[in-house]
Amino acid sequence: MLRKLCLLLSLAAICACNNNKQTKTAKNGKSDTVAVAKDIHTLSNADQVEMKHLDLDIQVDIYNKQIRGCAVWTINNKAKVKTLILDTYDLTIDHVMVDGNEVQFTLDSLIKFFGSALHIPIKANTATVMVCYKTGKSARALQWLNPQQTHDKRTPFLFTQSESIYARSWIPCADGPGIRFTYTAKVTVPKGLMALMSAENPQAKNDNGVYNFTMDTPIPAYLMALAVGDIAFREIDDRTGVYAEPGMIEKAAWELADAGRMVDAAEQLYGPYRWGRYDVIVLPPGFPIGGMENPKLTFATPTIIAGDRSLVNLIAHELAHSWSGNLVTNATWNDFWLNEGFTVYFERRITERMLGKTYTDMLWELGYQDLVTEVNEMGPTHRDTWLKLDLTGRDPDDGLTDIAYEKGALFLRLIELNVGRDTFDRFLAQYFNEHAFKTITTEKFLKYMDTALIKGDADLRKKLTINEWVYGPGIPANCPRAEQERFGKVDAERMKFLSGAPAEQLTTVDWTTHEWLHFLRKMPDNLSAAQMKKLDDAFNLTNTGNSEIADLWYVLAVRANYAKAYGAMDNFLSSVGRRKFLEPLYREMMKTSNGAAMARRIYAKYRKNYHPLAQEMIDRVLGEKR
Ligand code: BES
Ligand code: ZN
Repeated sequence: MLRKLCLLLSLAAICACNNNKQTKTAKNGKSDTVAVAKDIHTLSNADQVEMKHLDLDIQVDIYNKQIRGCAVWTINNKAKVKTLILDTYDLTIDHVMVDGNEVQFTLDSLIKFFGSALHIPIKANTATVMVCYKTGKSARALQWLNPQQTHDKRTPFLFTQSESIYARSWIPCADGPGIRFTYTAKVTVPKGLMALMSAENPQAKNDNGVYNFTMDTPIPAYLMALAVGDIAFREIDDRTGVYAEPGMIEKAAWELADAGRMVDAAEQLYGPYRWGRYDVIVLPPGFPIGGMENPKLTFATPTIIAGDRSLVNLIAHELAHSWSGNLVTNATWNDFWLNEGFTVYFERRITERMLGKTYTDMLWELGYQDLVTEVNEMGPTHRDTWLKLDLTGRDPDDGLTDIAYEKGALFLRLIELNVGRDTFDRFLAQYFNEHAFKTITTEKFLKYMDTALIKGDADLRKKLTINEWVYGPGIPANCPRAEQERFGKVDAERMKFLSGAPAEQLTTVDWTTHEWLHFLRKMPDNLSAAQMKKLDDAFNLTNTGNSEIADLWYVLAVRANYAKAYGAMDNFLSSVGRRKFLEPLYREMMKTSNGAAMARRIYAKYRKNYHPLAQEMIDRVLGEKR
């Protein structure tokens, strides 16, 4: 109890020092001195003890759903402190050795979101600290799948999702985006399964189930990743490839055939890809997000496998993080837009090179619509609508909104439009190059932009309204908007349908997924079940294999009480674990009492199939306390 109190007090001290000493935060949130950013989401003291390297040796007990093993940290006690503090979350610590000798450690009680600080006595010249541990049942980074939850339904599967602060639930570490280290790992899995990490990876299974990994480029803990299962590999070209379960590998390889060309396009834009190979693993359907930019190996949802390559811009996004995020990393989760906003901008530039401007304009417009919806939902003056966030004492995942992604990307687009594309591209390439393998705060970025791009041009500075974008709420008036060439045509077809034209007579032949999304998104709220049926008879939307269209269609079906789609919707909800799809559907069902009953029935059947974080989210939507 006393320990917890002390810890809370020291946390408060950290926060206070964040405001007063380190960054001198002014009233408007703007920092006027650029200093080391204090990360409020790690309990570690990695600002005093350098975490240089990790040697991980773990066994993955896939049948008992537990990881056991030891993490050996090579450290440099630069501040000569007496204690090393590491982040843990629901870990059982078996023993700790400092330079080969066992020591007494203390483990604090759990603080919501943060976990438990592990205190280890060290000396001024301590070189290594070994922590032997096991993971707990509520490890938020881990999703353990039974065979029936996988695509092939034959063998169990495990994957991790460490961003934002979940690495600490499977590795005792200093878990902040500004703390980088290199690693090796020895991972023992049941024979017949393969292990992959965010590192140099095997391309085939071996006989003994022991896999060795090396990552000799320093990365932060949120990029630690592991996948274990019956996994096959297909090459795309000599530096890109695809992993998936054997029954999925052919489809996955076909869908992602352009990945190699995407890496080429990205390099032409902003300089060399610095991570060696670029591979993608297409995970089982329970993966809770669309994609995760684990270095060298993007983790992706199978919901992008649409059969027509129409959803692979998600790969462009995760690939772009190899520059914005993995190479130049947000210093704290308050600077999250520097990871995601830059990546969305970069992703769309890759897509424009691959598929042209009118196509990419559709992505910009859908993103803009998402942003408008987000701002309306939060309220136009909400603090979380600033680009620079304040997540003090909160779950960093609260920052995971379209503000970071779409407002961030539109701010960069505005700068591009004002300085010209060539100048902006040169600036960005130089930014990535000069900050490679470093962390960046919002303040540091703005200062850099001032010297390297604005260069005293007062007129330009005025046009960019930087303060309004970064330290102000809502959508600024100078927000750019994409041209509506293709969506204009879609609007016309929708109008035709709504004024009574038969669905078969609509001109939809050349439509991509994104035209369909716009067509459906802008349908009026009072679309009737009879109108839904007409669309369904003409386009068979209930049985679409495209997850983006399916999700939206089922939302409309619930709204219109179009029962014919419910069977397919049930099936969709049985396996798909992507939060972006689950949330709107469950939310829509909760709007009526019949719908709520349906939501509860469906959720009772499939809750076990969802990731712990998705479960937490739907529990909230359904108002269920667990
Ligand atoms: N890095 C994010 C995922 C993330 C962010 C996970 C913060 C946890 C906390 C990833 O790059 C991402 O943005 N994924 C998107 C896809 C993208 C195309 C917008 C997703 O999963 O929806
Ligand atoms: Zn991203």
